[in-house]
Amino acid sequence: MTVLKDNTFKKFRDFIYEQSGIFIPDTKKYFIENRLSKRLEEKNLCSYDDYLYMLKYSANKEEMKVLFDKITTNETFFFREVKQLEVFVRGEAPKLIARRKPPALRVWCAASSTGEEPYTLAMMLMENPQTSGVKFDILASDISDSVLQKAQCASYGQYAMRNVPDIYLKKYFKLNGNSNHHLSPVIKSRVRFSQINLLDEKRIKAVRDIDAIFCRNVLIYFDKKAKVKVIENLYEALRPGGCLFIGMAESLHDITRLLKPTVVDKTVVYQKT
Ligand SMILES: C[S@@+](CC[C@H](N)C(=O)[O-])C[C@H]1O[C@@H](n2cnc3c(N)ncnc32)[C@H](O)[C@@H]1O
Repeated sequence: MTVLKDNTFKKFRDFIYEQSGIFIPDTKKYFIENRLSKRLEEKNLCSYDDYLYMLKYSANKEEMKVLFDKITTNETFFFREVKQLEVFVRGEAPKLIARRKPPALRVWCAASSTGEEPYTLAMMLMENPQTSGVKFDILASDISDSVLQKAQCASYGQYAMRNVPDIYLKKYFKLNGNSNHHLSPVIKSRVRFSQINLLDEKRIKAVRDIDAIFCRNVLIYFDKKAKVKVIENLYEALRPGGCLFIGMAESLHDITRLLKPTVVDKTVVYQKT
């Protein structure tokens, strides 16, 4: 395996941080080696310095996409932290819908990974009598292209499916030959996917007028400075009165005063006033 020298590790780590906000501490040099050593072999490169040079100076930005695919952690599953989703679908969504004339709802899952989170929301919104007939639109985005491709295939194995209640399983999934579950086109058609880096201010400026943002289980990979930047970007995308949900184990303490936290059913809802 190619050796990653300490000074190259620091350059690599800083480059990844500038590009994605993902912060890799000094103790995690192995993380870069584990994730990238195979890629060096595939590209016939002799050193991490050569790979860094390629990433920085190649006119073709395709390798950046590969880098994002390799360094991100994409763990997710259907009905994850479902209490929070219930608070949104039953409590916040009907209020947000009522604020629009004609009634409608625009949701953004800002680190959607392979799609389980936005698809869960789409199913829950369809099943809730207060939201089912309403025109809703879900934008799902991620920095990694490969997870977005998987999301669009919408074919899931046992791990992703383990929390899906029977009623949803029967109504919205079809089991196929290779024992994967295929999501119904009715739900697929309610979600559109786009590659968006949460630190790319220019790109985020194109996302506006959103009623609710889900940015769950991604802030943990950022340091404070990147968190502040990301939350500022998300704040701009929200409509006044709109709300933000972060992961249950995450907090915006010390990160922002722009959004007002309210506790609903043991769930924190961050509101843009
Ligand atoms: C652990 S998954 C969370 C998925 C889902 N939100 C959930 O809670 O189950 C984190 C996702 O954040 C994405 N991510 C990491 N850095 C990002 C960035 N700068 N911009 C957009 N997405 C990013 C990763 O690619 C990954 O798919």
